[in-house]
Amino acid sequence: MPSTAGSDRSGSRPSRSDLRPQRRERARRWAPVGIRGMAGYVPEHVLDNAELERRVETSDEWILTRTGIRERRIAAAGECTSDLAARAGAQALRAAELDPVDLELIVLASATGDSPVPASACHVQRKLAATSATAFDVGAGCSGFVMALMAAHGLLSAGAFQNALVVGAEVLSSITDYDARETCVLLGDGAGAVVLRAGDEGPQLVDHLSGSDGTLADLIRVRCGGSLEPASHETVERHGHFLEMRGREVFRFAVRTVPELVRELLARNGCSTQDVALFVPHQANLRILESVAESLDVELSRFAINLDRLGNTSAASIPLALAEAQAAGRLAAGDRVVLVAFGAGMCWGATLLQW
Ligand code: ACO
Repeated sequence: MPSTAGSDRSGSRPSRSDLRPQRRERARRWAPVGIRGMAGYVPEHVLDNAELERRVETSDEWILTRTGIRERRIAAAGECTSDLAARAGAQALRAAELDPVDLELIVLASATGDSPVPASACHVQRKLAATSATAFDVGAGCSGFVMALMAAHGLLSAGAFQNALVVGAEVLSSITDYDARETCVLLGDGAGAVVLRAGDEGPQLVDHLSGSDGTLADLIRVRCGGSLEPASHETVERHGHFLEMRGREVFRFAVRTVPELVRELLARNGCSTQDVALFVPHQANLRILESVAESLDVELSRFAINLDRLGNTSAASIPLALAEAQAAGRLAAGDRVVLVAFGAGMCWGATLLQW
């Protein structure tokens, strides 16, 4: 895994061994914050592999064997990220028995906001009528939900807010090039949300570990539409507003980084993979999950998996899979659960939960 921090004052980069004692120490600083409700929402329309076979030169067999994906959900025309986020958020608030007017913070993780300005979290706030809530977005690609959870945990730990709605939501179909077979078979739309409350009731957020490596920024990107290459006829003509990625390199990055990240998070909390009841990984490719499970020496049955039905839903994949696991009765009091993500940036992050 690349280094997890920047330079020291002299400009030289600290080695990983220099960083570890400090990061172990940080593991003890979080105040108690519990998960009080969670929910997922996916659009109705199913895009299956047979339909993709008709659009690009691919096959159900290739998609299944290379990715494990059978189908994905696609938002209806006019259905935007804040719509999906608000649906998941409303359900999570009901599960938490929290009246939207009492909600204090909304953090939305997404790479596909409704528009560049304003923050889509503000649209979610309006749609939920969460009139007292502060709302902002987090952009960290597929790691966005774990980053948003960590940010919200920090703010609740500091006493700035008493409760928070953390949402991962994507309409990836809005940045998918349905002429590019390398990407269009992977991506789907959806949203997942959790409600956090300060205090030691409910499943607890225990610790988070994260990092970024901007030298790998070109691995996954939407090239145009920002300040570097603003939108123009020309950027539209050359498909510059679609997600592009260097798939093989992302694959290699993931299978190297994820096991190391999980082991480090568990080690600094005094436990091992055998103490974890459920792993809830970002859902990018079944082969990545199989490789991670093998590296960690863990049965794949201890992984929550939804990519076969939903594809890669980026920031939504982990909260969707977590909500599904809870609904399926896969989480019991005392269970340790690990969320782990990687994606554009490159960014990576993992969270340890105690049910
Ligand atoms: N159907 C048929 N053939 C295809 C398809 C397709 N959909 N896509 C690619 N191919 C072809 C390639 O052109 C290539 O052909 P060639 O050998 O003639 O050149 C061949 O299949 C093999 O291509 P690879 O890229 O080597 O295939 P690989 O086994 O690596 O699988 C994949 C590609 C699925 C993209 C894999 O690399 C992967 O999952 N990477 C990780 C992706 C990821 O995690 N992305 C996250 C970012 S998405 C986000 O941020 C929302």
